[in-house]
Amino acid sequence: MKEEKKLWGGRFSESTDSFVEEFTESVSFDKELALYDIKGSIAHAKMLGKQGIIPKEEAEKIIKGLQEIQTEIQENKFNWKKELEDVHMNIEKALIDKIGNIGGKLHTGRSRNDQVITAFKLYLKEETNNIVNLLKELKKTLLKKAEETIDIIIPAYTHLQRAQPIRLAHYFMAYLEIFNRDEERFLDTLKRIDQLPLGSGALAGVDFPIDREFVAKELGFSQVMRNSIDATASRDFVIEFLSNCSICMSNLSRLSEDLIIWNSSEFGFVELPDKLTTGSSIMPQKKNPDVLELIRGKTGRVYGDLVALLTIVKGLPMAYNRDLQEDKEPVFDAVRTLKGSIIGMTKIIEGLKPVSEKMEQAAGGFALATDLANYLVRKGIPFRDAHHIVGQIVAYLVNQNRELETITLEELKQFSPEFENDVLNLLSAYNVADARKSFGGTSKERIQEQVNFWKEKLNVS
Ligand code: ARG
Repeated sequence: MKEEKKLWGGRFSESTDSFVEEFTESVSFDKELALYDIKGSIAHAKMLGKQGIIPKEEAEKIIKGLQEIQTEIQENKFNWKKELEDVHMNIEKALIDKIGNIGGKLHTGRSRNDQVITAFKLYLKEETNNIVNLLKELKKTLLKKAEETIDIIIPAYTHLQRAQPIRLAHYFMAYLEIFNRDEERFLDTLKRIDQLPLGSGALAGVDFPIDREFVAKELGFSQVMRNSIDATASRDFVIEFLSNCSICMSNLSRLSEDLIIWNSSEFGFVELPDKLTTGSSIMPQKKNPDVLELIRGKTGRVYGDLVALLTIVKGLPMAYNRDLQEDKEPVFDAVRTLKGSIIGMTKIIEGLKPVSEKMEQAAGGFALATDLANYLVRKGIPFRDAHHIVGQIVAYLVNQNRELETITLEELKQFSPEFENDVLNLLSAYNVADARKSFGGTSKERIQEQVNFWKEKLNVS
């Protein structure tokens, strides 16, 4: 490693062990924060000039230098050096090399402890918006799929046993609600991310006449953090962000699991487009749902990211400790993984082809049993007795290897004299689904209401 003079080298009489440089560096990953770091530094320099803490012309020189460094980074011309430890020191050193000693005034009234978390918060704000926009696309795609599938009947499952018939649209609308909550969670966390830490120094505040409100405005933070210890040492909002990522991944994973099952030859409920599946290197018949499997699998690593950060902070004495440098990689990993997973799921939902004959075939039969029991309830029989009677009917048919639709009125009457001709209407999955007209239920009119509600909310025609 080439010897670089350390910005903090004053009190040291020997140079850093190369193992230590290698072990403690973070620039290999935190350079992802470079543009946010520069943004924070420009706002800080502006404030230093405005307050007369450094001469205005020098502040302007610093800003111009930082802007040039920004261009170099954007054009991939910047030379990152591990021996300069992290993204902050790399940029500061480049500034001093570029504009001379004046560059050394940028760090006046600032510490890396308030600098790093400011850059990280700017990053989290932007990525929150990116994730929210991706979730909006997914919601719109689900809404469109729901509209297309409102006339397809499918069995809904509990305990992975056929339970009751629903309209397929009802299923997609359930996930629209779920991903909407994920979005709300990210937006809610944003309130706690959207508070400026800069101006807190190393931990105790700053002994220059700084203007934190001004910096907050420059950087687009709506509030200033009130306590300098809290501002430099807390990462709870990062944990909250990772928790939102984890919850969202759990929802994507659960949806993946259903679609993987539905795509199996045994179910055959859906077909995935060729362009979103992959083949097997050995079994020519296979078309694998790898994107869905990887969303499910990658959920594990995002949970790992959350647990990593929870564990990192649990034993930390106040205030900043170097352990906190470990907060970045889990977040970068979770953001990359979550964004990819949402994009993947959006493509899958878009291209998904329901096999309606298969679904409808499975939706009838004993999935209609609850409605038969409710028929008897409407005739005045207590639900528990009705449940028992229909249970006997199911056993009778299962013994003879028959489906529910094959039963005759005469046979039904043997189980209860209350059965009359109109019960035969119930032996249709469509009728049964449409009888569920309660708010939030699966009847066509209720689903249509929800579709209309979301169309307006999501601004789609
Ligand atoms: N790279 C460090 C981090 O990510 C920056 C802060 C370093 N502060 C310090 N006192 N060594 O946390």
